[in-house]
Amino acid sequence: MLDASAEPLLTLKGVHTHIGQYHILQGVDLVVPRGGLSILLGRNGAGKTTTLRTIMGLWKASAGSVLFEGRDISKMATPDIARLGIAYVPESMAVFSDLTVRENLYLAARNGPLDEARVDWICGFFPALKKFWNYPAGNLSGGQKQMVAIARAIVEPRKLLLVDEPTKGLAPAIIQSLMAAFRELKDTSTTILLVEQNFNFVRSLGDTVSVMDDGRVVHAGSMAQLAGDEDLQQRLLGLSLDSHQ
Ligand SMILES: Nc1ncnc2c1ncn2[C@@H]1O[C@H](COP(=O)(O)OP(=O)(O)OP(=O)(O)O)[C@@H](O)[C@H]1O
Ligand SMILES: [Mg+2]
Repeated sequence: MLDASAEPLLTLKGVHTHIGQYHILQGVDLVVPRGGLSILLGRNGAGKTTTLRTIMGLWKASAGSVLFEGRDISKMATPDIARLGIAYVPESMAVFSDLTVRENLYLAARNGPLDEARVDWICGFFPALKKFWNYPAGNLSGGQKQMVAIARAIVEPRKLLLVDEPTKGLAPAIIQSLMAAFRELKDTSTTILLVEQNFNFVRSLGDTVSVMDDGRVVHAGSMAQLAGDEDLQQRLLGLSLDSHQ
């Protein structure tokens, strides 16, 4: 059970982000409780990716604060933010195409050599990684590259994992193992903020859920509440669900 009274791991307060002349995030308020799995939903263009990029410092917030463990990280450089224990798996699979799967994981381990036991644990979710261990990652399918990208992010324990729509283009069986991986990761005290379009993939996975629209969070609450309220789902997600099935 999440302790709602404990200090959240991550809190965005009134975050605005401009990209060039465009005012994309328009006062985002978001709370990610420590040890939980938080889902960020919203239709195409709602601002989900921009929110993750702003947390990582890849876009700078023009106003508001991004608090990680109570400390404002909104002015910090991306490598320093990553060093605090935040890993980011972007929408487009971040792998080194010319390097093998092993080398991709090896480079992602910042604190020394690969932890073989942890690699075995990760490969338990994604057996394809072991199969293609010594192959260039560029030769893998889209789904397999996605697995490499996620494996890179969790090759060492992290405090917070940000994942942007990992299910895009994956077969149902792979999505199931991905969801199982997130569930187990959560049990190892990694907090996860997962962006997803398909509500049905995450309705039994998330602890908390936030819904974005037009650069703002328009709903935040427990997943149990949203999963049990079809009217609310229809009102908040009707469009995004229709457009994604
Ligand atoms: N580099 C950019 N330059 C200009 N506008 C951008 C840029 N990146 C994003 N935007 C705009 O910001 C808005 C939010 O985009 P964002 O990628 O955050 O949405 P999203 O919720 O992740 O959507 P999707 O579900 O399609 O991935 C969109 O209107 C988009 O056109
Ligand atoms: Mg996006």
